[in-house]
Amino acid sequence: MPASPSPQPERLRSAVRTCEHGGTGKDLKMITLRRERPTDVPAREALLDDVFGNTRNRKTSQRLREGRLPAEGLSFVAADGRRVVGTARLWNVAFASGQPALLLGPVAVAADCRSRGIGNALVRHAIAAARGLGHGAVILVGDAPYYNRFGFTAEKAARLKLPGLT
Ligand SMILES: CC(C)(COP(=O)(O)OP(=O)(O)OC[C@H]1O[C@@H](n2cnc3c(N)ncnc32)[C@H](O)[C@@H]1OP(=O)(O)O)[C@@H](O)C(=O)NCCC(=O)NCCS
Repeated sequence: MPASPSPQPERLRSAVRTCEHGGTGKDLKMITLRRERPTDVPAREALLDDVFGNTRNRKTSQRLREGRLPAEGLSFVAADGRRVVGTARLWNVAFASGQPALLLGPVAVAADCRSRGIGNALVRHAIAAARGLGHGAVILVGDAPYYNRFGFTAEKAARLKLPGLT
């Protein structure tokens, strides 16, 4: 697992300014990272539809998630007031050897809220929370140029085979 900050309380004020105000000016409202609540689910699903489109369930990583629930306590949202502007979840999976791991994803941030560090804060928060709960490995299917910054490398996963990939 990549290096990450120590586990945080469930609610945390990240160093991310509210989307509405573009990260500038005197408004000190912050994006809040917190555990996902049942009432967030419709907004999270709408956000994922916006970001990935309605074919998102055909993605390779979705095959790994099919029939599973997210790992207990490891679903997070970024909220700008009442609006869900980001999502990251971790899922229990296992290697063929039986060794448990977590699958990260989908990670998504609303298009009008990007490049303010929300994705970065969500991923780091999720990894720190997983570590705090004693999990030892996180894998994902994603773009190396983005995920390398968190310590993920394709080399470590070179021998893994995923459903849907030959
Ligand atoms: C990837 C994503 C979650 C990042 O969210 P974000 O809040 O904008 O992330 P951050 O602000 O922490 O980082 C933004 C930086 O990452 C870069 N970045 C975003 N996606 C990238 C990618 N696929 N490859 C390389 N860099 C990427 C941006 O260009 C930006 O660079 P900058 O800081 O130099 O401007 C968001 O762009 C998104 O939802 N993308 C569509 C869905 C997706 O690809 N999800 C990941 C796969 S599950």
